[in-house]
Amino acid sequence: MAKKVRAAVIGVGIGKYHLEGYQSHPDSEVVALVDLREDALQAAACKYGVANAFTNHREMLKMKEVDCVSVCVPNKFHMPLVMDCLKAGKHVLTEKPLARNAAEGQKMVDAAKAARKLLMIQFNNRFRPESQLLKSYIDAGELGDIYFARCGWLRRNGIPGWGNWFTTKDLAGGGPLIDLAVHMLDLTMWFMGNPQPETVLASTYSVFGPKMEALGPWGTPNPKGVYDVEDMAVAMIKFANGATIALEASWASRCKREWVYSTLMGKQAGASLERVFEVDGIDNTSVDTLELYTQRFGQPVNQSLIFPADEAMGRHSAVMHFVDSIVSGKQPISPGTDGLRIMKILDAAYKSAQTGKAVTIK
Ligand SMILES: NC(=O)c1ccc[n+]([C@@H]2O[C@H](COP(=O)([O-])OP(=O)(O)OC[C@H]3O[C@@H](n4cnc5c(N)ncnc54)[C@H](O)[C@@H]3O)[C@@H](O)[C@H]2O)c1
Repeated sequence: MAKKVRAAVIGVGIGKYHLEGYQSHPDSEVVALVDLREDALQAAACKYGVANAFTNHREMLKMKEVDCVSVCVPNKFHMPLVMDCLKAGKHVLTEKPLARNAAEGQKMVDAAKAARKLLMIQFNNRFRPESQLLKSYIDAGELGDIYFARCGWLRRNGIPGWGNWFTTKDLAGGGPLIDLAVHMLDLTMWFMGNPQPETVLASTYSVFGPKMEALGPWGTPNPKGVYDVEDMAVAMIKFANGATIALEASWASRCKREWVYSTLMGKQAGASLERVFEVDGIDNTSVDTLELYTQRFGQPVNQSLIFPADEAMGRHSAVMHFVDSIVSGKQPISPGTDGLRIMKILDAAYKSAQTGKAVTIK
């Protein structure tokens, strides 16, 4: 029997999905966990039956048997930890966003190339069943060229961990633009065949966050902490092939309800992938839908496919794909370079919001 891929997970917050993903794959196992918080580390090691637990990732990296590492820590620490893992000869799956900005992301991509190791980014929305199905329709030419898309992730009352790392620019790099929009922008660009971005015009707003309103249920608010990021962002992105994306994201806005969506306009057909929440607010029952908009016999025809909500939002499948990539030696479908392309757009969006002018991406 071939040897299993042996993984380590750094960060036991969202890292639990990585643990479960590795443990669901017949060809992988988790051999080590790392977290600064001893109590959370021991609880996860016990729950998932992982023998080795460390509070310092450098101790874990001494384990020769570790083949790959999931990096699931606050955004500021993606770059240094990923670099350490690559230098230690491990394949790396890092959480989104790739880093706080493109300069950090470039270093990570360069390091993976130099180390000849895989660097994958956890763009889990690509791995949702409805995303996979829509992508196969697009690749089969069902939509034709996609020239316009609208996408976004709007929350009404969903500021995560007020005063903790999520709302501190130095630790997170930004607010919902870098936290939520990153997912739907990536998904939409993937549907569109990853066109080359050229120009970004954006605005950011901080309306409810500074007043400590519209808090979500994640994390414990820290009233003594910092809130210096946006709570809403909008952007228009133009691509070299003439296509355009209109993007919106909020942690806090007086929108109707939480809404996660990507709507595509193709020259033959349109499509919309949505996660719609049942009632206002957050963490309510949601339903995932995929609709196709075509024209047959001169009439509009709509097709609607309904999917059961996947609480994991493709996270387990993404981790399992990473294991498959290591086993096959092939690049994953969401390599670090795709994360870097998104970081360049987000950098341009923040700059545009600051200057009030459109920003060209070089
Ligand atoms: N893909 C998704 O759907 C998704 C969802 C949520 C968060 N994320 C991303 O995952 C990352 C982590 O977010 P989270 O929600 O789990 O945050 P979190 O604060 O809940 O957990 C982060 C964990 O990392 C640990 N940690 C911090 N620095 C560390 C270090 N140097 N070494 C070891 N452990 C360290 C913390 O102690 C904490 O337990 C972020 O980049 C975030 O953007 C992705």
